[in-house]
Amino acid sequence: MAVSEQDILWSELRWAAIAGGAVSLIFVAILYAGLILHVNPPSDIETIDPKTLHLSAEFTEANLGTKVEAGGQVTTRIVATQFAFDPQCVVVPANEPVTLRLSSPDVIHGILVTGTNVNTMVVPGYVAQVHTVFTKTGDLLMPCHEYCGFGHSQMWATVRVVPPERFRPDAEGRVACENS
Ligand code: CUA
Repeated sequence: MAVSEQDILWSELRWAAIAGGAVSLIFVAILYAGLILHVNPPSDIETIDPKTLHLSAEFTEANLGTKVEAGGQVTTRIVATQFAFDPQCVVVPANEPVTLRLSSPDVIHGILVTGTNVNTMVVPGYVAQVHTVFTKTGDLLMPCHEYCGFGHSQMWATVRVVPPERFRPDAEGRVACENS
């Protein structure tokens, strides 16, 4: 069967339309996921010097743990280090927005809070931030889930979720496990 110039042209146009359609469909799906569903890659990257972590304003020993900020926002700051979390236990209120902020002075660690959607890597040089609402009360296990050395399996902390009425900040807005 003889194939004419015209047949080839139509065949090419048909494939161009199919490929163009597929690309447009994927493009629309990306826009839909980003703009409507708000599924986005991490943004707002915050860097921090791991060498001076304990000396810098935010992650100094006295500023670690849970604090109710001036605007009422509950923020919990934790340092992940070989092979412990500092502090070892943090208190958060149930059914209220909580922001977790973590950083590492040494190697890459990872955290997850059992039974919740909290799950992030903690990379030296950056602040890992997670916004969440804890709905169940109780002591939740927060293990390190990134192999970070010989003591990795010993590295875990407790997230104590208490009912809002039992979440009582002191005069400085701080709440610690020792008195909760
Ligand atoms: Cu830290 Cu594994």
